[in-house]
Amino acid sequence: MNTRKIILDCDPGHDDAIAILLAGNNPKLDLLGITVVAGNQTLEKTGINTLNICQYLDIDVPICLGSANPIIKNIEICDVIHGETGLDGFDFEPLRRDFDKRNAIEFIVQTVKESKEKITIVTTGPMTNLALAIKYDPMILQNIEEVVLMGGSYANGNVSPAAEFNIFSDPEAAYIVFNSDVKVTMIGLDVTRKVLVLPEIISRMEKINSKASVLFTKLMKVFNENQNKVFGLAGGPLHDPVTIAYLLDPSILELKPVHCDIDISHGSSYGRTNCDIFDYMHLEKNTYLAMDISTSKFWDIVEEGLKR
Ligand code: BDR
Ligand code: CA
Repeated sequence: MNTRKIILDCDPGHDDAIAILLAGNNPKLDLLGITVVAGNQTLEKTGINTLNICQYLDIDVPICLGSANPIIKNIEICDVIHGETGLDGFDFEPLRRDFDKRNAIEFIVQTVKESKEKITIVTTGPMTNLALAIKYDPMILQNIEEVVLMGGSYANGNVSPAAEFNIFSDPEAAYIVFNSDVKVTMIGLDVTRKVLVLPEIISRMEKINSKASVLFTKLMKVFNENQNKVFGLAGGPLHDPVTIAYLLDPSILELKPVHCDIDISHGSSYGRTNCDIFDYMHLEKNTYLAMDISTSKFWDIVEEGLKR
């Protein structure tokens, strides 16, 4: 069986780091490259974090810098959760790795167009890079298997009552992707809030005592402290790795086809993912929406990744 070819577009970020960890050097996936966007921190910092993670875990794929700013609005980082570096909590060795010369948009367009098999794009940050790639060359849509994103929520948001951080950070980019006729699988807060890195999860992963589990444990301790300060949670929601876990075992999610409309009205619901789960509007279903998750299967996948 052919392994699924993916490009991971991210903004590390503690939970992005674990998504990279699960996707990299995984025999069940063919990770073609990692593209980076500004989000949890500035592009300069999310880029360095990506290099550091890949160097530490020996993940040898092209890493391409992309957009430093959203398409229309101004950048808003998330340092209250991810800290000054965007990945507070781990001291990496001096960097030897460097970026690929190609810009993220160029990399996505080139890689998707040249591939003999369709490619899945996973986004775990603002969707700016993918939206710009689609605008730059809409022909790529024909060779994208699926877009799997962490973002949005059919219930409440996490940066406003209405909006989740990744969509709120660049609503216009999300609008472009959701309206592009590509297959979209949306993994929102509705399910990622169910996978909390509670202290017992940290203890379970700490026991593995691999290089990867040391990284996991140190990062998650800081992630949890910050999630506790901001949201009062005993364990941080491990949002982004759900995308990769889903590709490794689609049965972890319960999906529902819905129409999803991205609010770009600049009002109080700016950045909301309006998911018509009761089909009030009778509009074309443009999204497979994650409704539920098997948390036990998810943690087994994380554990397996840390052991690899
Ligand atoms: C998303 O926002 C970021 O802070 C996380 O990395 C995740 O991608 C959750 O809302
Ligand atoms: Ca992220």
